[in-house]
Amino acid sequence: MIEALLDHATLVEHDRRHLHPLHHPAQLVNPLVVERAEGVWIYTTDGRRVLDGMAGLWNVNIGYGNQELPEVAAAQMRKLAFTSNFAGMTTPPAAELAYRMAGMAHPSLNTTFFTSGGSEANDSAFKTVRYYWHRQGQPEKFKIISRQAGYHGITVAATAATGIPRYHPMFGPLAAGFSHIPAPNPYRYTGDLQPGETVGQAAARALEEEILRQGPETVAAFIVEPIQGVGGVIVPPDDYFPRVRALCDRYAVLLIVDEVICGFGRTGLWFGEHHWHLRPDILTFAKGITSGYLPLGGMQISDAIRETIDSAQPQEIWMHGFTYSGHAAACAVGLKNLEILERENLLANSQQMGERLKTGLHKLLEFPIIGEVRGRGLLCGVEIVKDKESREADIPKALAIYNACLARGLRLRNVGATLACSPPLVINAEEVDQIVDILGSVIDSVC
Ligand SMILES: Cc1ncc(COP(=O)(O)O)c(C=O)c1O
Repeated sequence: MIEALLDHATLVEHDRRHLHPLHHPAQLVNPLVVERAEGVWIYTTDGRRVLDGMAGLWNVNIGYGNQELPEVAAAQMRKLAFTSNFAGMTTPPAAELAYRMAGMAHPSLNTTFFTSGGSEANDSAFKTVRYYWHRQGQPEKFKIISRQAGYHGITVAATAATGIPRYHPMFGPLAAGFSHIPAPNPYRYTGDLQPGETVGQAAARALEEEILRQGPETVAAFIVEPIQGVGGVIVPPDDYFPRVRALCDRYAVLLIVDEVICGFGRTGLWFGEHHWHLRPDILTFAKGITSGYLPLGGMQISDAIRETIDSAQPQEIWMHGFTYSGHAAACAVGLKNLEILERENLLANSQQMGERLKTGLHKLLEFPIIGEVRGRGLLCGVEIVKDKESREADIPKALAIYNACLARGLRLRNVGATLACSPPLVINAEEVDQIVDILGSVIDSVC
């Protein structure tokens, strides 16, 4: 085992030179300095043992401490750590992983482009849909519609696509060409709901109205997460996505499905879109493809989009790619990770443990501050409200519950007023019950 070189206090002091994501210094007063981890448990340099109910950042799907992935990574690095995938070059792991993933999400998604993460994947998708319309002779079709409470990453374009307002101040002006419509949130729909209309119908109508308002001849794509994660674990009603797909077809708008959280078993199926059969034109992924053991993401494109890239003249080349596109060690880890997900039946475990988790969390609905419990597989959310009648979101209380859980050895994540729970897919029944018990006792003490 690799020993930490410095004691906890020194590490905390040195970490002050480290600019963290979404940085606020208050969060670094007593940070978890995580030194090692096993299964669903993380261990810190000051002796804390915490059940990681967030699988890192929704991504350590096969759990911590797996020994096969480091071996595969080391073997690949010894042979070939890196070479470029530009200019007619490739590597065996990149070729094999692209081949393995062909048709996995949908029969028409047979081509994969690799990135290092989800934001790069979504930026690649935005550029590719614009490229596609340029190649169709419709360069004016460049706008991207996304949804409120949608999270698509942190690069300049992905920030503009993200529909969570707190990500926007201080970074303006945002990239042009992005607009947001209401999320299909059955508990808290913010759009216009007409008498007799379901939330799914209203949210789909909002898409049609936005396409018409912008002008269909200017709209390139609509981007969706199957289940909106960072925006509050929002599960759409079943009548929403069939309407979305039909509208995209009617107005020739490409559908980008962001599977960065939902992919690779998180919701109990290989991809979140398999719950609703979205037929993506582009599917973006990251996180669970390597269970976080190495950084990897990417996009899969439809055969029709691939055709436009293949048939380009030299001056129309798809001029896009990253140094680390198709990184050999990351792709080797991705391949082995897919094998482990399959071999260990982790999708089935995600379904079974997800049901157990949801059943346990549903019992919390007896507390007056629990507005809703929702989710699919091991992607769950518990929404904290001031009271059940008003449904007013209680963000400070959600933060207090998050902190109290952490003090008792359970790590969740407060996304707005919702406590998200997204543990490794290797979690067992006893550990699921521990999550429910700790959260229940914390909520009991808060109430
Ligand atoms: C749905 C979704 N898309 C994109 C991203 C961005 O991925 P990354 O942080 O790897 O750039 C995230 C990150 O949480 C995400 O949840």
